[in-house]
Amino acid sequence: MFNLISTKSLSKAEALTILDIAEDMALVEQREVKKLPTLRNQTVVNLFFEDSTRTRISFEVAEKRLSADVINFSAKGSSVSKGESVKDTVLTLGAMGVDAIVIRHSESGTAQTIAESDWTHVPVINAGDGSNEHPTQALLDCFTIRKRMHGKNSRGKDLSGARVLIVGDILHSRVARSNLWLLTTLGAEVRFVAPPTLTPTQGDTWPVVVDGDFDQVLTDFAPTVVMMLRIQHERMDSSLVSNLDEYHRMFGLTRERFISLPETTIVMHPGPMNRGVEISDEAADSAQSAVLEQVTNGIAIRMAVLYVLMTQQSEVSHGA
Ligand code: CP
Repeated sequence: MFNLISTKSLSKAEALTILDIAEDMALVEQREVKKLPTLRNQTVVNLFFEDSTRTRISFEVAEKRLSADVINFSAKGSSVSKGESVKDTVLTLGAMGVDAIVIRHSESGTAQTIAESDWTHVPVINAGDGSNEHPTQALLDCFTIRKRMHGKNSRGKDLSGARVLIVGDILHSRVARSNLWLLTTLGAEVRFVAPPTLTPTQGDTWPVVVDGDFDQVLTDFAPTVVMMLRIQHERMDSSLVSNLDEYHRMFGLTRERFISLPETTIVMHPGPMNRGVEISDEAADSAQSAVLEQVTNGIAIRMAVLYVLMTQQSEVSHGA
């Protein structure tokens, strides 16, 4: 594995290797000295053409924990505002000597375009491209589910037995796409719930049922995980959701829906959350909520991905 652009192309063995290495990386966080020398003298650039809190900071923490030198690039305040292209930005930063590129962009396919170009010959990690994919989010989500299912005995385990219901703005969600591929590869059952206006037209050809009745699916599918998605107003050409109160009532994890779930049901959200729209305070702040665990686990997952791509190791031999 040289780049990480999509979870669709990850084999089960590759995915399990990353999850298992992340188990070791998570142990580093519990040490007094939270650092490994793995990427000493290597430079990683975080190229963020689109806003981010979790992913950008999580990559930066992961890179620093592996002793990499870190360059943070944000399109705001850069020469992008003077019209500089992605190509010239990548060429410019490459000329300064970087060993890996982490890229977030609002246009689907940007990470792949860079990886397939001759603008750079270093590993490219997709940190979210438009509505397309967000592979490290899916990896951290699967890591979180596996940890809740198997605890300290997670290593080597897949997600057989998990029934994951992903609810909300499927149309614009790179998180839903990346999770669909990875969860399926790891043996979980996946269902989607979305309003008709936020259901992808190609949804019928995906290996997943897209339903419109949240309550019925909660009864019929009996999910072990309910993953709520943010309404992505910034990706909507027109107002596909006219009334947020009605959206909350029909497609939100309301207080009433939440308290009707079994106490073992895991509640997830990739963030940032629109409280009172796709998720209620009661659900977001409950013991069943894994939202902050997802954030914590993101660091270990990103350390594992950087380790695998930048050292070209597929074995757990990093001395963590
Ligand atoms: N989950 C996620 O990608 O969040 P950010 O947009 O804050 O990075």
